Order: sequence, then structure tokens, then C-alpha cells
Amino acid sequence: MYDMKIVINGRKRLSGNVKISGAKNAALPELAAAILSSDEFEFCGVPEVEDIKVMFEALKNIGAEGEFINNKIKIKIPSLKSGLVPKDIIETSRASILILGPLIARNGYAKVSLPGGCPIGDRKIDFHLEGLKRMGAKINIEDGYIIAKSDKLCGIEYTFPNKSVTGTENLLMAATLAQGETFLGNCALEPEISDLINLLSNMGADIKHEENNSLIIKGKTTLNGAKHKVIPDRIEMGTYIIAGCFLDNEIIVENTIPEYIKSLLNVLENIGVGIVIEKNRIKVNPTGNISPIDVGTKPYPGFPTDLQAQLTTLLTQANGISRIKENIFNRRFRHIDELNKLGANIEVKGNTAIIKGKTELRGGIIKSTDLRASAALLLGGLIADGETVVENSYQLFRGYENMPEKLSQLGANIKLIKR
Ligand code: EPZ
Repeated sequence: MYDMKIVINGRKRLSGNVKISGAKNAALPELAAAILSSDEFEFCGVPEVEDIKVMFEALKNIGAEGEFINNKIKIKIPSLKSGLVPKDIIETSRASILILGPLIARNGYAKVSLPGGCPIGDRKIDFHLEGLKRMGAKINIEDGYIIAKSDKLCGIEYTFPNKSVTGTENLLMAATLAQGETFLGNCALEPEISDLINLLSNMGADIKHEENNSLIIKGKTTLNGAKHKVIPDRIEMGTYIIAGCFLDNEIIVENTIPEYIKSLLNVLENIGVGIVIEKNRIKVNPTGNISPIDVGTKPYPGFPTDLQAQLTTLLTQANGISRIKENIFNRRFRHIDELNKLGANIEVKGNTAIIKGKTELRGGIIKSTDLRASAALLLGGLIADGETVVENSYQLFRGYENMPEKLSQLGANIKLIKR
């Protein structure tokens, strides 16, 4: 799985329609939420990507029965076989930390490996552990595992020191089965979290949105199963919309929710890219002339850190100097050296990338370092003149469903080589 590369012959015009898949970062916590009930669940619109397959395997390891076929998952966890989620299953993703909260809430015991995930900076979990400790869990970290024990979780008041997506998801899920009421302040409220709240409410959980990003959860003793359709992936949406901004491409992105990517659409309007929104379709009309811009990543609804690398690639084609400030993670610029190997002219100063455009990109051999960087490097190969080889590109398949096929259907000259 790990030894693959993608070869692109660039400067091919992209045109036609591309359909967005379900959101990996919604399906991950939603699958973990199935631990909270012994009933059956049916998920549809699930992206067939590595991170989801890993989560599905991890759940089977603790007692789940079910199947994952054609973007549908049927799953039921009638009883927990074990509270152990071993390292080898999930060393590459955030799945384990999302299992922790539901598992300790249902089972009173959990032993999960410390989470993996993209090497994009410190991936701390202190908010997760602090919240669960306050709920009554005894937590130790031994030999790369988090071991959590608790007779019964109790409701708490906890305000996140800063916004955390999986931190909010974890404590929210644990609180649905805790005794009493839980107040969570300064929650992250990404669309994936709203989708999780919809699922939990359909399971019978009692969750209320309060003002300034707070949630109030009244714990229940049991929750039911549910049927759920996963929302479309806003980061995949943004990635293909950015792909449509180059050259004289003309693509239509389908199965979108434009509201989810308003921050990106505003940036694209400001740099001179024509965007036409027709319900759940977005048509991209590049004008061939891109202006520079300054952008800073923020929690939702601000500009998403998960589109920072892809926008960096686009801004190499802007006529002037752009700056992107990465405010969420402290090491999320590893794609920049690789883009510079293709002829980009990007300098990093602290947490700001200074992108001097317009630069003519030429093909070369580059290396992918993480999921979203992989997409940014593919976009670089699409613009570059000649052949680009993206090594280490298994990362792409952690979070993008069939991306080489989707790009090829749009007219890209792209092939996946598995050694
Ligand atoms: C989620 O990661 C997403 N992953 C990431 O997407 C996304 O980039 C990130 O949220 C955006 O905030 C999933 O949903 C599976 P955080 P998460 O907790 O939850 C600090 C992708 O490409 N922090 O919101 O791990 C942390 O160090 C991935 O799909 C603490 O200090 O991120 C970071 O600087 C990449 N203590 C900031 O908060 C904690 O306990 C935001 O992290 C938790 C987080």
C-alpha cells in the first residue's frame, strides 16, 4: 500500500463534471459513535478511503459486526469483545482518539494506541484527556497506549482553551452517556461536527447548541441505532474548485454545499476567478489572470487549514506576492520545498509562506509528506510543463476517494504506479 507514485504530464486542459464524495472527517467520528449503542447502524455516502477502512477495522477489533460495500457501511456492536485498539491498526490516523471517548463511555475501560495522523505539527490531545479525567476517567499512558478506566462518567463544565475538532467530538460523544448535564464551551463547530450532532440526536441524545460555540448535553442511559447519510467533503470540494482555477480549465463540481466553503469562494472571487453557484453545483471560470492575496487559516468558518497547501499551489500562478499565514498547526509547510523543486518561488518566515508569482512550473520528481500536501503537489503537476512524479503518494488515498480517476476523467494525463 505504501510503495506507490503518481505520474502526471501537465498543462492538459481540464473540463467536465466531478462529483464530490462523502466527508472523511464526518464519517470518522460518526463510525466511532456506533460504539455508543448496541443497535444496528446504516451509513451511506461513506468515502472508500484508507482512514475510514482503518476505523472500520479498529471497530471490528473491539466487537463490531458489519460490512463496508459501495460507500455503505452496516455496523452493529452488540457487545464489546475487547477494549483494546492496537497500534498496528491505527498508527496512521486520528481514529484511535475518536474511539476513546465513546469506548470509555460505553465500556468503562479503553486501551487505545496514541493517535497518528498527518505530521503537520503538534497533534496534542491534552484537551481530550483533561475533559475525560474531569468526567471521572482514570487515565494513564503506557507504552504508546492510552489506558482509561471509569465506573461511570459524570457531566462536567469544560471550556476548551482553544478550538479542537476531534476534542469537541470526543467529549461530546462521551457526554451523551455521562450521568447528568455537560457544558462544553469554545467548541469547534465545523460542518462535520454539526453532522455528528445530527446523528447523535437521531440516536436519542439530548444536545443543545448555545450561543458563542457552546454545547449542553444531557446524558442518557442508552442510545439507539440510526441510518445516516454522510455530508459531502468540503475539503475535496475546495481541492477540485482550485484545480479548476488554472489554465483555461472549465469544470463543474457537483454534490457540493457552497455554504461550507464560503471562505474559499470569497478568496477566489478576490483573486479574480469567476465562480457560478447553481444549487449544489459550482462552476469554475478561470480568467487567466490571478491577483495575489494575503490569507490566514482559522477555525470554521474561517479559511480552512486543510486547504492551505492547495491554495499555495494556486498562488504560485498569481501576478504578484501573496502571503498565507498558518495559524492552526505549527509544521504545515512541508509541501513548499517540493513545490519549489517544480520552479515555484516560495519562502517561509515563521508561520507565513510568502509566495512570489507568477512562476512557470516545470515537471520534476517530488515527494508527498501528508494528505493535503499530496493534493497540493498533484495540482502542481497539473500546472507544470512536462512530467511530474509524486513519490510517497499513498498518503493521498487516506482522504481522497479515486482522485487520479476523477482527474483523468476531467482530462488530466495522470497515472498511479504501484511498485
Ligand atoms: C481535525 O484534526 C481534522 N482531522 C484535521 O484534518 C484538521 O486539519 C483539524 O481538525 C483542523 O483543526 C479530523 O477531523 C480527523 P484539532 P484535529 O484538535 O482534531 C491543538 C485532514 O487533512 N490541540 O482541531 O487533530 C492542535 O495541536 C486533517 O483531514 C491541542 O493543543 O485538530 C492544533 O494546533 C489534517 N490540544 C489545534 O489545536 C488538544 O487536545 C487544532 O487541532 C487538541 C488540539
